[in-house]
Amino acid sequence: MLKGKKILVGVCGSIAAYKIATLVRLLIKQEAEVQVIMTDAASDFISPLTLATLSKNPVLTRYVADDNTGEWSNHVALGLWADLMVIAPATANTIAKIAHGHCDNLLTAVYLSARSPVVLAPAMDLDMWLHPATQRNISQLQADGCQIISPGEGELASGLHGKGRMAEPEQMAEWIATFFSAGRPLAGKNVLLTAGPTIEPIDPVRYITNHSTGKMGYALAQAFADAGAQVNLISGPVALQLEHPSVQITHVQTARQMHEAVTTRTATADIIVHCAAVADYAPAHAATQKIKKQGDKLTIELVKNPDIAADTGQKLQAGQVHAGFALETENEQAHAQSKMERKNFDLIVLNSLNDAGAGFGHDTNRVSLLFREGKREVLPLLPKSEVARIIVRHLTNILQAKSHVV
Ligand code: CTP
Repeated sequence: MLKGKKILVGVCGSIAAYKIATLVRLLIKQEAEVQVIMTDAASDFISPLTLATLSKNPVLTRYVADDNTGEWSNHVALGLWADLMVIAPATANTIAKIAHGHCDNLLTAVYLSARSPVVLAPAMDLDMWLHPATQRNISQLQADGCQIISPGEGELASGLHGKGRMAEPEQMAEWIATFFSAGRPLAGKNVLLTAGPTIEPIDPVRYITNHSTGKMGYALAQAFADAGAQVNLISGPVALQLEHPSVQITHVQTARQMHEAVTTRTATADIIVHCAAVADYAPAHAATQKIKKQGDKLTIELVKNPDIAADTGQKLQAGQVHAGFALETENEQAHAQSKMERKNFDLIVLNSLNDAGAGFGHDTNRVSLLFREGKREVLPLLPKSEVARIIVRHLTNILQAKSHVV
């Protein structure tokens, strides 16, 4: 499947480096040409001889070979040779360095010289992964065009449990195979997507929310990733799981948290889709202690939440595609049309609660698509996965049309 594909594998110093032996073996089995570059720290975790044997190529670690032959590893030539550069495990340190353009070893020099797409499979401890500095660096690398094979959840070498575990070699090999296969119109594109409800605390035990289950948004995340996109999914609390190497999920609770998560990622997105059912109002003050039962009436003062979609719509850059959903119970078309204008959408997906089998909690949906230029497409009742594929196809077309104009 990978016959003749030239793949640079950059290995950094993490315990997950031992898994790279399997990755290299899987790539070689698929007839790829593999060149491994290791940092000094990486060779503390796995022997260069192992990776040289498996890759059928000497492993490169230094600009100049250690054996006094004066042989020079030409980072520019390596950067030009590759069809794909994979940095795995990508440590917090190397991620930080390349995000800032540092170039203090062969691996970082090759990264800066690479003209091929670059994909990173991060591996680190839970708190290191969640640290704002790491997340900032990851966003920067995505903005620079890198793809991320999302770390998984699970037991970490530290004994902690959580996110930070490098994707399994089989997953990475599959990601690479898909990368080189056809039918990925959104390869190299970033998608920002909201999903699920928000919850707005009244006190430590109560909150205001809605019936959204997140099914449509998660189906969209899957469909975007299948089309080759890198997906940033900002999710309210849902009972769904989605493990896909190209989908990074940020969990939030309130509309304000969702707003912030979207705002910090808007500039680097090619397509932005608001699928979340955002609470329009939140309690003005969430009580710090449980509210005790008192008289016959209780009034909770609510204040308006930010309108995430409208705010994003004001900040769009040329070429970005912006889409949202409308759930209406009456005057559907007119309301959806006015939302499209107010929020500066290219496409709005109209759900009607009046249709059997459509809306909250169902696995199927019946929607109409309203396009900015006035076109309208009414879809039959379909599985949400199929609705998602159709929406992704339309948004891809809009993106391509915009990039031809720019
Ligand atoms: N939306 C948003 N932020 C909000 C409210 C809505 O980003 N505070 C987004 C939704 O994700 C959806 C679109 O805006 O894509 C329309 O949401 P909807 O709840 O139907 O519309 P509202 O703007 O809340 O308008 P109304 O309550 O008047 O129907």
